[in-house]
Amino acid sequence: MGKGSCSKVKKINGKIRLIPDKFERNGKFYFVEAWRFPVEIEKFVKDWMKSLYISNNSLTHVCCGKSRIGGLRIDDNIFLQPDIAADVLDLPWILGKNSQEHILADLPWQIGYHDRRYFSYAMRDICKEGGYLLINAPWNPWVKGLKFLRVYKVLQAFNSYRDLVDFWLFQKMTTKELRNYYGS
Ligand SMILES: C[S@@+](CC[C@H](N)C(=O)[O-])C[C@H]1O[C@@H](n2cnc3c(N)ncnc32)[C@H](O)[C@@H]1O
Repeated sequence: MGKGSCSKVKKINGKIRLIPDKFERNGKFYFVEAWRFPVEIEKFVKDWMKSLYISNNSLTHVCCGKSRIGGLRIDDNIFLQPDIAADVLDLPWILGKNSQEHILADLPWQIGYHDRRYFSYAMRDICKEGGYLLINAPWNPWVKGLKFLRVYKVLQAFNSYRDLVDFWLFQKMTTKELRNYYGS
């Protein structure tokens, strides 16, 4: 495996564990951390915000992952430390309809076919009238009530990711951790 960078995670059983953020190699394969915008995509999003006069504070980032973009960052995975840990579909009840200025949304592409429409309804419902929505999805997320303005294609190297399988790394929580995070 080629050069890579690591993030240090806290001491577990007296050992410091290092988890690779990114591995690259020159051969046929190339490993990057997924579920995270590559720097070029982050720049694209920031340029898009600038040209539409969207401040970071007025942008709600739904399915934010580890990204720092957005004044309000929402994800259902508490370990990514979002501002609000919630399921996308609950947002109209949690935040209220017409409550968010602008939306950036980046749902996992593997979402079931029938859930896609409910996701779009939720995004539409929480956005204020006149607000912009930038949604990263390989399907058409349009639903009634949204005005179609543009669709941008991401070409070249980044798209080769679609051909590869995903490797996931998790750690099972202890009973104590479960109690600390979720109560009872
Ligand atoms: C593609 S990643 C986000 C990457 C991020 N937008 C960035 O800028 O790097 C998708 C995120 O959606 C979150 N997610 C998946 N299903 C969700 C749901 N039903 N509600 C809220 N967040 C969800 C995952 O935890 C994951 O962090």
